[in-house]
Amino acid sequence: MKLQSLRRAAVGVSAAALLLIGGAPSGHAAEAPVLRDLAAAKGIYYGTAVSASKLNGTYASVVTEQFDSITPGNEMKWGSVEPTRGSYNWSGADAVVDFAEANDQKVRGHTLVWHSQLPSWVENGTWTADSLRTVMTDHIATEAGRYKGRIDHWDVVNEPFNEDGTRRQSIFQTAIGDSYIADAFRAARAADPDAKLYLNDYNVEGINAKSTAMYDLVKSFKEQGVPIDGVGLQAHLILGQVPSTLQANIQRFADLGVDVVITELDIRMTVPPTEAQLAQQKADYKAVTSACVAVARCKGITVWGFTDSDSWIPDFFDGYGAATPYDENYQPKPAYYGIAEALGWTGDTTPGPTGGCAVTYTVQNQWDTGFTAQVTVKNSGTTAVNGWQLAWSWPSGQSVNQAWNATVTQSGSAVTATNASYNASVAPGSTVTFGFNGTLSGANTAPTGFTLNGTDCTTA
Ligand code: G3I
Repeated sequence: MKLQSLRRAAVGVSAAALLLIGGAPSGHAAEAPVLRDLAAAKGIYYGTAVSASKLNGTYASVVTEQFDSITPGNEMKWGSVEPTRGSYNWSGADAVVDFAEANDQKVRGHTLVWHSQLPSWVENGTWTADSLRTVMTDHIATEAGRYKGRIDHWDVVNEPFNEDGTRRQSIFQTAIGDSYIADAFRAARAADPDAKLYLNDYNVEGINAKSTAMYDLVKSFKEQGVPIDGVGLQAHLILGQVPSTLQANIQRFADLGVDVVITELDIRMTVPPTEAQLAQQKADYKAVTSACVAVARCKGITVWGFTDSDSWIPDFFDGYGAATPYDENYQPKPAYYGIAEALGWTGDTTPGPTGGCAVTYTVQNQWDTGFTAQVTVKNSGTTAVNGWQLAWSWPSGQSVNQAWNATVTQSGSAVTATNASYNASVAPGSTVTFGFNGTLSGANTAPTGFTLNGTDCTTA
């Protein structure tokens, strides 16, 4: 059994269902790209943050099919695993690690030391440098030790810098001082020697004061033998604002002798999104993915939620959303194809209508050797179609010899009607109509099985 088939079998979803989930993109033999396979061919992984409670049904199917690394969005944070001192809840974290192992996926552990989502007994405790250092390193030993050998990357310390490159005044910084980061890395290495240890932050994607502070710290760690393996650039980006220095920044960290990964990619926009915004988002996802592919030490990319139905953005940024590669109904957006293209995919990227289409086929006139037919295609989905190809196959030897309002070509019994320049866009709920004259060789059985840009349509 091929690896793909094994993955499908593991979650009990048919190949046909997954093809639908993946969004058949082509006007002919529609094969949806598989990000994890494309990424593997480029020597990187493609991952997503997940919510443990959602790992079933279609959500789980897409995670399994498309991604070869997962990160628990919240379940491994200190506040989740030890809300009360000495009282642990590993259920969510265990569920994510078990799911990954069942589906041949890496796990990014997120995160051991962070100023946010800390239990209040840590955040509001009264500490000396020594007492908090002990609590911190015990926490690392407990959590990283529990999953020893099962975590590929740990975000050991998360978000330690201010925007100007100074240290964030977290409880760890104020109680322990500058040395807490090195202490945390040493404790993580001791707890799980095989895990790659990462320093992770946001707004460090381009070359700026904050990323330079990170660079300087990593440099000093390498000089002092502090065990660090990589840096995570979170990449919570705004539409149209991929930093122009992203690739150069990745390269400068690589040149220090550490790996680099994009850990929390999302690209937010005002909602509801326009087609132009979605096209820009595609270009942005493609640019970020291309920058990683271009640097040998960039090992992978994780999107911070793969679907707009499981994204932190709407809760944190008023009026913004649509930040992930799949819409709320698990349909791939143009951004998904941008990622695929950056990973070397060369298929047809014209997406079909999200949510389907309906075709009405009417023979208006018929004589001994010929007929005239009219075809009306309704976009019954929720996204516009910009440029379309309607494909069908003749059941009884007919052929098309003249068409209007579309260009119609035929090969054997396979017919493809392509939009005219003036009817390329079909808004959700709208129809487009074209007609043609055909020749007959006997019966004139009406075709069924129409596809619009590779998406199956119903037939009236
Ligand atoms: O679990 C409770 C639930 O019981 C309650 O009913 C609900 C009511 O609001 O809240 C739930 O907790 C929320 C939690 O996500 C789980 O959904 C918290 O309120 C909410 O604040 C929390 O947000 C998380 C955020 O970190 C906290 O800073 C996001 O899901 C998570 O995606 C986000 O991830 C961070 C990374 O860890 C670090 N980098 C930035 C990134 C985005 O903020």
